[in-house]
Formats: sequence, structure tokens, C-alpha cells
Amino acid sequence: MNAERVECRRFEGKTVIVTGGASGIGLATAIRLGAEGAKIIIADLSLEKSKVAAREVAAAGSPGVSFITCDVSKEAEVRKCVSFALEKTGRWDAVVNNAGLMVFKPLEEHTAEDWWRVLNVDLLGAFFFTREAFLRMEGGGAIVNVSSIHAIETTPHVASYAAAKAALLSLTRSAAIEGKPKGIRVNAVLPGAIDTPMLNENPNIKSGLEVINKNDVGRPEDVAAVIAFLASPDAAFVQGESLLADGGRLARL
Ligand SMILES: NC(=O)c1ccc[n+]([C@@H]2O[C@H](COP(=O)([O-])OP(=O)(O)OC[C@H]3O[C@@H](n4cnc5c(N)ncnc54)[C@H](O)[C@@H]3O)[C@@H](O)[C@H]2O)c1
Repeated sequence: MNAERVECRRFEGKTVIVTGGASGIGLATAIRLGAEGAKIIIADLSLEKSKVAAREVAAAGSPGVSFITCDVSKEAEVRKCVSFALEKTGRWDAVVNNAGLMVFKPLEEHTAEDWWRVLNVDLLGAFFFTREAFLRMEGGGAIVNVSSIHAIETTPHVASYAAAKAALLSLTRSAAIEGKPKGIRVNAVLPGAIDTPMLNENPNIKSGLEVINKNDVGRPEDVAAVIAFLASPDAAFVQGESLLADGGRLARL
């Protein structure tokens, strides 16, 4: 993945945790924020992918990149990740709650386990980092939650994912209200179809159940730019916002 040429350095002196930062949108975000001067902590399940990703983020100009194995659905691992960021860099200014997964099954085949697996990663993972942020983040900090257009409109067989991503918008609003007096801004981005491993492995797309016009497929860098805006001081008065980044797909009848 190539770093786009960025002129601004909005994250100089800041430390940002990017969950799921070893691939796709998370990696593009780590690269973008790193190129703008942030020290980056990649928190991902995969240590192998994180190692490779860290090299890319460093090559893009980040003044410091570290990675830690972190399953965002495990409270203890989230706490450990934040402690790791603080030990490595002495501060913590932002988190991008990007780690996510999907289960593809008709509703009648969805089990309670399927629901918990998705909710634990896509919703509770963001909650665990939000709670740590409220307890340990610098004032002036920012949280960006990566939701999805599935929070608004969806397809068959992804009920647990669509519900988790919709609930993440609700969490964004609640956290924005409670975060404001702490000086922490909380916002969400809703990507449309983005060219990442998650999209390319999507069985609904492979089977033709979901059809996406190729002009409606964005790049991970397109979402990273929106996340960078929401996490930056340019969005100082943006609080509790849910911002679509879908190339206009949902605007069309
Ligand atoms: N690609 C799309 O079209 C699209 C559209 C809308 C929303 N999104 C959302 O964007 C986010 C990133 O998706 P992507 O397309 O870049 O996917 P991806 O599969 O390329 O990357 C996801 C990363 O998250 C990591 N991960 C998974 N579970 C984790 C866990 N429990 N703890 C820590 N890390 C974990 C994976 O190891 C992987 O590196 C997800 O939340 C996804 O729901 C993606």
C-alpha cells in the first residue's frame, strides 16, 4: 500500500492506537496518520501481518511504530494495549476502533455464539477502548469508530454485523455526550464498499447476492483520509457525527 503525499502534520507529537491496523482500512489509516507525524500503535490479532504493516507505516514517515497482539474483544488485552502505548510513547491521544469481522448466515442459521462473536469484536471492542480512553486518555483526545453503510441499509445474511454496526453509531452518540466534558471527541465513519481483503472475501459478493457497481468501490486511503480528519484538530467542533464515506452509493435510488 502506498502512502499518499500528505502536506500536513496534524498529528505531530501524538500517539494513536489503530485496531485492526495490520490490514485494509486500518493499515491505510496507520500509514496516513503516521505520515502526518503520529506515533502509531498497531493493535491487531495477527502478529505476522502487524510486523509487515509496521514497516510500511515507518516507511511512510511515522516517527515511531509499535505493534502488539490484541484481541479487541478481550478487556484485559485492551487494557494491556493501552498500557503498552503509554509505556512506549508516554501518551495516548487517539484511538481508531477499526477491527471488525462479519458472519455470513441466514437468520435462521445464526446461533447465539455467532451473535456474540460479532458483537464482542465490532461493538464491545470499541466500548472497551472508549472506557480506557475516558479513564486514561489525554484531554483533547479523539475516538473514531469505523462503522459501515450496513448500519443504515443492508443485505441478506449479515444481520449480526448490520446490528453491531448500527449499535456502534449509538455508542458513538452516547460516548460523544459523556466524552465532551472530558475533552474527548467521539465520531464515526461509515465506509461503503472498500477494496480490502474483507470485501474481496465477502461470500455475498462472490455469490452475486450483493452486487456492487465498480464505480462504487473506494480505496482504503479514501476512508483513511476521513478518519484522519475526524481524529484531527480540524474536526475540533465535530462531536457525535456519523460520516458516510461511500462514494455516493446510498444517495442513489
Ligand atoms: N472493506 C469494506 O468494504 C468495509 C466497508 C464498511 C466497513 N468496513 C469496516 O472497516 C473495518 C476494517 O475492515 P477492512 O475491510 O479493512 O478489513 P480487513 O479484513 O482488511 O482488516 C481487518 C483487520 O482487523 C483485524 N481483526 C479482526 N478481528 C480482530 C480482533 N478481534 N482484534 C483485533 N484485530 C482484529 C484483522 O486481523 C485484520 O488485520 C471493519 O470494522 C469493517 O467492518 C469495511
